[in-house]
Amino acid sequence: MAPRPMIAGNWKMNGTKTMAIDLAQNLVARSKAAASVPRIALCPPAALLETVSRAVSGSPIVVGAQDCHPKDKGAHTGDTSAWLLKDVGCTYVIVGHSERRADHAETDAIVKSKAEAALAAGLTPIICVGETQSQRDAGKANDVVRGQILGSLPSSATATNVVIAYEPVWAIGTGRTATPNDVQDMHAVVRETFAKGRTDGADLTILYGGSVKGSNAKSLMSVPGVNGALVGGASLDAADFWAIIQSVA
Ligand code: 13P
Repeated sequence: MAPRPMIAGNWKMNGTKTMAIDLAQNLVARSKAAASVPRIALCPPAALLETVSRAVSGSPIVVGAQDCHPKDKGAHTGDTSAWLLKDVGCTYVIVGHSERRADHAETDAIVKSKAEAALAAGLTPIICVGETQSQRDAGKANDVVRGQILGSLPSSATATNVVIAYEPVWAIGTGRTATPNDVQDMHAVVRETFAKGRTDGADLTILYGGSVKGSNAKSLMSVPGVNGALVGGASLDAADFWAIIQSVA
């Protein structure tokens, strides 16, 4: 069965406490007044997780983190465990975002260990994959994404305890989106790769990410095999993010 659509806002390293409360409260009011809403997750910076978690409490909106450490605790200055994320109210955690793969040299093996930690803590990992422009130009996009999935997916992953986000690196923050055909093809690759040897492939939530906005959400979200969006820049604007939410409601 096709999964219930999901829209997640990745705030990245943006926001203040005041902005976080305003934005969360605005979206809570809209979601409470709406006839139907998809799954909605807000993923603010770590320091704002508890603030946003309190602001959305009692609403259909849940909170996700942007990263976690593979270990439960210990001498890892500056890192946050999946257990602590769960403790402060998170439901999801993004792992393997291309910005973390690039800025922090995160390999598939590291991403996999983070996704395993998330599952062990009772969080749903949103595992990000996606090719660079040069990999696409070289005709290697499908192989790259296949390899990332096979390398990053925990063995205990099921269609309902993980989410996969396809985010072509060249479409992130650039205003360029993949064409509906390219998105459809790659989501099929993601689903086939996940589904190999299992029967629950149709239930997997696969999000598209990369310059999704209110103005292009309807066409991207209606592509077969797309179950929602992982939104960066546009998730910082309540009206624009709400328009994306409405596109799948
Ligand atoms: P933009 O929507 O700003 O392109 O970012 C996409 C993204 O990286 C979400 O994780």
